[in-house]
Amino acid sequence: MNNRRDLLLQKRAESNLGGGQDRIDAQHKKGKLTSRERLSLLLDEGSFHEIDAFVTHRSNDFGMEKQQFLGDGVVTGYGKIDGRLVYVFSQDFTVFGGSLSETHAEKICKVMDMATQNGAPIIGLNDSGGARIQEGVVSLGGYADIFYRNVQSSGVIPQISAIMGPCAGGAVYSPALTDFIHMVENTSYMFVTGPNVVKTVTNEDVSSEDLGGASVHGSKSGVAHFTSANEVACIQSIRKLISYMPQNCEERAPRLPYNSTGDESRSSLINIIPDNPNQPYDIKEVVENVVDEHSFFEVHKNFAENIVVGFARLAGRSIGIVANQPAFLAGVLDVHSSQKGARFVRFCDAFNIPLLVFEDVPGFLPGTDQEWNAIITNGAKLLYAFSEATVPRITVITRKAYGGAYDVMNSKHIGADMNFAWPSAEIAVMGAKGAAEIIFKRQIDSAENRDVAWKEKEKEYGDLFANPYRAAARGFIDEVILPEETRERLIAAFDMLQNKVKNAPKRKHGNIPL
Ligand code: HXC
Repeated sequence: MNNRRDLLLQKRAESNLGGGQDRIDAQHKKGKLTSRERLSLLLDEGSFHEIDAFVTHRSNDFGMEKQQFLGDGVVTGYGKIDGRLVYVFSQDFTVFGGSLSETHAEKICKVMDMATQNGAPIIGLNDSGGARIQEGVVSLGGYADIFYRNVQSSGVIPQISAIMGPCAGGAVYSPALTDFIHMVENTSYMFVTGPNVVKTVTNEDVSSEDLGGASVHGSKSGVAHFTSANEVACIQSIRKLISYMPQNCEERAPRLPYNSTGDESRSSLINIIPDNPNQPYDIKEVVENVVDEHSFFEVHKNFAENIVVGFARLAGRSIGIVANQPAFLAGVLDVHSSQKGARFVRFCDAFNIPLLVFEDVPGFLPGTDQEWNAIITNGAKLLYAFSEATVPRITVITRKAYGGAYDVMNSKHIGADMNFAWPSAEIAVMGAKGAAEIIFKRQIDSAENRDVAWKEKEKEYGDLFANPYRAAARGFIDEVILPEETRERLIAAFDMLQNKVKNAPKRKHGNIPL
């Protein structure tokens, strides 16, 4: 019996060592943690339960039968984050560079299936040289098995990816199909074709970092939702992200205990909007003064900064924030900000997270660049995403709500539940200056002093429309509120909406303009 016990303990120890101490040391030398070290940081202490630790590959080509490593390059199982169940896989670069074999893929698929069946998030820590080259097409098949499950689980359970090493070729598509991608600066990269292929095909000289590093994907492409300075910060960010989410699409996100002081007014909001309507201000200051202290968790921080999205808590309740950012490109809607907003709205709606919108938008960005890059189709994504969302939806117009952007940014007309406006709101087809120039063109041109006439007409239009009262008279705005009243009104409104039931019409699925 003792021999049998010893054999098990020996196999466990062997499996824990992955590709061996030398390769573990090499991993550390690169500034990277091992797959198991990452899991021990990610999961609550002592909560990890491993599955399939003794799986080995089935390849007999190229002498592979002589190179067997227990676990075959990926550690899989389940554990807890803040006491809540999650499923995990963590690729082990010390075993064949974390490359994906048939059995490695089967292990990942097994935990994905369990996560979907049992209704808990799946978190993948990716660190892999891609398809196991020695295995050929069975490895490609393994990837496709994972992609298929990513799609089947989409909107059913939250799926989170972290890229903590190489991620190239078709391998990038599994993370891309998940809800959120985290990347680590300087040690991770993602691209469909690497620098060598790029050089051959386009003659461009580019490093891995410049082609697909964390800062590129966090700011230029938007592929990465979060970037972190190191692996520890990345893992902490995943733990935080999970805290805002429900376990699956049937549940609500956990509500944290909240003890109100009885006074929810926030005088800090009174002076944020500048007197001059063309002067920028930071919408994040508004967000942070409205939501629970230190609860705002921004997504896509450095990408399409003219729109701000992220999670927060209001009286302990998890909400999703979408806010135009007047401090960046005047908060205009363009191709990237529309995509960014739309994807976030759809995540929140899929997982029963109520939406709060802060609106200060002068319209869509004009120009050939935008038109040729399909601002029409991309703006429609945001319009579509808001229109189809059935979660409680509230809008606060802080300043400009002009033109089509008024309609798009969670207006009453497309299904928002409560729409508030501050006294500084200007709800109109366009700004007074532009409007006066168009509708009073003849009078302005024939006036003795063109500039004076223009100013007069601008004032006339502004007095009539650059306020929230025309919209309030129609019921398009439910209530005009003072800035300091915002938090209290929002807490009450989300409470009022908490049992909202709204069913989408029966259909196979809608056809969002992709
Ligand atoms: C088998 C692999 C491997 C792979 C790395 N290794 N990638 N083994 N299949 N795909 C092995 C190496 O042979 C080496 O083994 C060990 O892992 C560590 O690799 P190194 O090269 O020493 O590490 P490093 O210098 O850090 O470079 C990492 C790397 C490089 C950049 C990832 O290994 C690399 O370029 N690998 C090939 C990448 C690739 O072309 N993959 C296929 C992409 S196509 P030893 O025993 O020497 O330690 C693809 C299609 C997916 O993935 C399609 C899905 C639809």
